[in-house]
Amino acid sequence: MVTMHIYILTLFPEEINAVMRSSIIGRAQENDIVKIECRQIRDYTLNRQKQVDDHPYGGGMGMLMQVQPLYDCWDAVCREEGRRLHTVYMSPQGKPFTQADAVRLKRDYDSFIIVCGHYEGVDERFIEQCVDEEISVGDFVVTGGELPAMAVADAVCRLVPGVLSDAECFTDESHYSGLLEYPQYSRPVSWMGRDVPEVLLSGHHGNIARWRRKQALMRTLLRRPDMLEKAALDENDLKLLEEIKKEL
Ligand SMILES: C[S@@+](CC[C@H](N)C(=O)[O-])C[C@H]1O[C@@H](n2cnc3c(N)ncnc32)[C@H](O)[C@@H]1O
Repeated sequence: MVTMHIYILTLFPEEINAVMRSSIIGRAQENDIVKIECRQIRDYTLNRQKQVDDHPYGGGMGMLMQVQPLYDCWDAVCREEGRRLHTVYMSPQGKPFTQADAVRLKRDYDSFIIVCGHYEGVDERFIEQCVDEEISVGDFVVTGGELPAMAVADAVCRLVPGVLSDAECFTDESHYSGLLEYPQYSRPVSWMGRDVPEVLLSGHHGNIARWRRKQALMRTLLRRPDMLEKAALDENDLKLLEEIKKEL
């Protein structure tokens, strides 16, 4: 049974399908655990040329996606669903996307819409009328909302039970618990003079867990001290941090 259905409104469905129908998310779609369904905004134009963009009022560079095809596409999806779906617009002006947003979207919705802009963006009235939240994937600008939408859809879908083999696959990862993940190694034990840390070969689960936690704390301290300030740390973590600071 599909437990997460994401509609993506886009001018480039083939770009999204090429990515989202492969690998882990592709397999999850084949197994009907999640569904990522693209809607071609251009199909909702009312003009013969199927034009979706026009010059912005007031002048300026570039073209803007017009409100009518966008709204009709959005409205058609909501009508099919029989309800107004939560709607996300991918935008460099939005709130920066975090793992906490992925967890929230997965927790709060079984279905939602992601809208991809293109060109200079979309008519503001569509945002005012239909959009519940604007999400950015970072302080940079890409040409369209497709790559950002795929990042959000992937981050949400991989939290759906059954998509990954085990919940531990994501609960242990960077950002989930507020820390960066520890470094990982696989075979061979020795490569180009670099050895796998001995503790990982010891089979001692307690020592391995302690080493990993310490590494996660150290990485976060060195690379993202801003995260460490907000992380929920217990007494053992604070002791490990003391150790780390002395060692450094
Ligand atoms: C070239 S951008 C438009 C930028 C817009 N003129 C502005 O200055 O805010 C075209 C589309 O790409 C998407 N986009 C670009 N950068 C993004 C980002 N950092 N996060 C999310 N979406 C982005 C949005 O959907 C946007 O409508």
